[in-house]
Amino acid sequence: MLLYNLAPGHPVAERLAAAPGMDVGNYQLRQFPDGETYIRIEGETPKKAIVCADLSNPDQKILPVLLFAATLRDLGVEHITLVAPYLPYMRQDIRFHPGEGVTSRYFARMISAHFDRLLTIDPHLHRYHSLDELYTIPARSLAAAPAIADWIRTHLDKPVIVGPDSESDQWVSHVAELAGCDRLVFSKTRLGDKDVIIDATNAEKYREYSPVMVDDIISTGRTMIEAAAELVAAGLHRPVCIGVHAVFADDAYHAIQAAPIERTVSCNTVIHATNGIDVGELLLQALQER
Ligand code: R5P
Repeated sequence: MLLYNLAPGHPVAERLAAAPGMDVGNYQLRQFPDGETYIRIEGETPKKAIVCADLSNPDQKILPVLLFAATLRDLGVEHITLVAPYLPYMRQDIRFHPGEGVTSRYFARMISAHFDRLLTIDPHLHRYHSLDELYTIPARSLAAAPAIADWIRTHLDKPVIVGPDSESDQWVSHVAELAGCDRLVFSKTRLGDKDVIIDATNAEKYREYSPVMVDDIISTGRTMIEAAAELVAAGLHRPVCIGVHAVFADDAYHAIQAAPIERTVSCNTVIHATNGIDVGELLLQALQER
C-alpha cells in the first residue's frame, strides 16, 4: 500500500503512515506567493494510492486535496482511496428554506469525481441513511462505537449513555449495547446556529448513575451544554461528554469548559485537546481488508 499523507501531524494519518507494509509517498505541496497551490509528486507513481486528508475546516483544505488527486490521476494512478477521518458537509442534507444549496450533495459530487473509494468514521447520517445515497464511489463508514464503549467501560462506574437529541440515538444505542448499559435519548429543537432547546424528560431516574453524553459532532457545543444543564437540573451528576468529531467552532471549547460538564473527550478524527479515543486502528484495519 502506498500512502500520501496530506495531514502530517494528524494522529490517524501518522498511525497509517507508520503501519508495517505501508509505503509513504513523498510530495511537495505549498502555496505560490499568490495563494495558489503548487504540487509535485516525487518518485514513481503507483497504480493504486491512498490519500489521507484532514477535512475539518473544509473550505480551507478541500481544493489542495482535489488538486492533489487530479495530479495523481494525471500521472497515471488508476485507483485512489481517500481516507478522511472526519467527513464534512453532511448536515445540510435538505433544502430547509427556499433557495438554499443542498451542499452535502455537491460536496459528495466533488469527492466522487476525484477519488475511487472513501473511508471515513461516523459521518452525520440523518436524513440520508447511507453514504451511497450521496457518493457515487464505494464509500464506507466505520463506527467509533466500539472504541467509545471501551473507553466508557474502562473509565466510568455505573454509566448511563445519554443522547442529547433524536439524531444521536444511532450512536447512543450502539455504544450502550456494547458497553452493556442503559440509554436515554432527549429531543432537541434548534432555534439557530447557537441556540438549541433540549427536552430532558425521564432523566430523574438516573440520579445514581454516571451520565455520559454521546454525540457525533461537537460544533458550537450548544447541544452538549444545554443537555448537560438539563441533566444537572434534573438532579444528575455533571456528565462526561463524548464527541466523535471535535469540530469546536469559535469559542465552543471555552463555553464547554465553563458548562456543568465533568469532562469532555473526543475521538481523534479532528486534532483537539480533548482527543482521548483512538480510531486510527479502525481505519488501518479497513485498509488492510483488501
Ligand atoms: C446534529 O444534530 C449533530 O448530531 C450534533 O448534535 C450537532 O452538530 C451539534 O452541534 P452544536 O455543537 O453546534 O450544538
